[in-house]
Amino acid sequence: MAAVSALIKRIERLSHELLDEETWEHTQRVRKRALLFAASEHLSEDQKQVLEIAALLHDICVANGIPDHGQEGAEQARRILINLDLPTDVINRVCHCIETHNEFAKTRPQTPEAKILSDADAFEFVGPLGIVRIALGSKRSESDSARSVKDRILITGKKRAEQLYTEAGKKAFNSWWEREKQFFDDFEHQLAE
Ligand SMILES: [Fe+2]
Ligand SMILES: [Fe+2]
Repeated sequence: MAAVSALIKRIERLSHELLDEETWEHTQRVRKRALLFAASEHLSEDQKQVLEIAALLHDICVANGIPDHGQEGAEQARRILINLDLPTDVINRVCHCIETHNEFAKTRPQTPEAKILSDADAFEFVGPLGIVRIALGSKRSESDSARSVKDRILITGKKRAEQLYTEAGKKAFNSWWEREKQFFDDFEHQLAE
């Protein structure tokens, strides 16, 4: 167990070095939520370890700006984990989680830990937190308006709502998703006043 926590600490340091502050904060929240979901979904210690490593490394390529940053992130994570001498089986399972963690991935999560990582990441795109994160992350263009930003937020939320895999993830996401839809109904009413 001591060896596992030393390994996690090392990966945590590497992740922090690679990420900007906003992505690091996001990563810590995703890690925490993923472990909460893992407890509800009764994952084994081994699965939790894979999940925690994947959560720490899942967005290491988000700064390159491509929607499917999971694929590139998985390739970079594989190089990091080979250097740390992790068993091939663990590396493959971590990389599968990273590769499939968002809605732009070419393949869907297949393992319990990959499903949980995707759900924990989805939770960051709903509710007040999701609204602020998506609005801040939106590229501004001349044609942007309050409504077009709202549409982008709702499209992202809808996509993530359609790709939830675990009971714990669905419960957490949907409680905010219903309130978010109400919030944007109010937004439309205010625009019409
Ligand atoms: Fe991501
Ligand atoms: Fe993420």
